[in-house]
Amino acid sequence: MAILRVEQLGKSYRSGGRELPVLQNISFTLNAGDTFAIVGPSGSGKTTLLGLCAGLDAATTGSVELNGIRLERLSEDERAQVRNQHVGFIFQNFQLIPTLTALENVMVPLELRGEKQADKRALELLERVGLHNRHHHYPTQLSGGEQQRVALARAFSNQPKILFADEPTGNLDAETSEKVVNLLFELNREQGTTLVLVTHDLELAGKTQRLIRVKGGQVISDSVMAESGSRL
Ligand SMILES: Nc1ncnc2c1ncn2[C@@H]1O[C@H](COP(=O)(O)OP(=O)(O)OP(=O)(O)O)[C@@H](O)[C@H]1O
Ligand SMILES: [Mg+2]
Repeated sequence: MAILRVEQLGKSYRSGGRELPVLQNISFTLNAGDTFAIVGPSGSGKTTLLGLCAGLDAATTGSVELNGIRLERLSEDERAQVRNQHVGFIFQNFQLIPTLTALENVMVPLELRGEKQADKRALELLERVGLHNRHHHYPTQLSGGEQQRVALARAFSNQPKILFADEPTGNLDAETSEKVVNLLFELNREQGTTLVLVTHDLELAGKTQRLIRVKGGQVISDSVMAESGSRL
């Protein structure tokens, strides 16, 4: 079953009175439960693409269908609701709320959903990313890698059908990076969460079932991993 259908997607920004095209004619369909990597040079449009797929931003042209819902037909509030129900997102720059502790940050999506035991579940998630003893820290009191792990716990918290992660290991040392990657793939196996990862780490990209390369705002290749481990 398709969880994400992207058709003829385009995005341009207005800058200095001109239209600056950032994405053009992007089309692909992702099946539920699969794992995907999006790779490409800096500035090629990966973060923009992830944001459009997750309903964080609206496309200029084309359509995104997430779990059967056409995002371009929704208002901003409706898109926020779809995100809270179906989507986990790990931002390239974490975007933790600075006035909330690690625990409170992880609790936000749970509270939005009206979960009763938000604090208990948030603490469990922080434990899984190895941060239970930092739960009362504010983002400024955490290292970059620790903030990344809080962002990961927050993205997991609403048990999303699809998780988008923008450079999830970008700021981590080898050991922590391995832990985070294992956690992502565990979530995929245990809960059937579809994983969409943007990464510069080719080893991580190699672990996914499908690899999409973007360059200059366009898809230049789309390959499936063979059983043998090579790309078709
Ligand atoms: N709000 C905006 N207004 C104008 N231009 C933007 C805006 N956001 C992004 N861009 C431009 O769109 C292009 C793609 O940006 P994007 O962040 O998607 O790249 P990326 O592939 O994620 O790069 P990186 O690997 O460095 O994170 C860049 O040239 C960027 O300058
Ligand atoms: Mg980016």
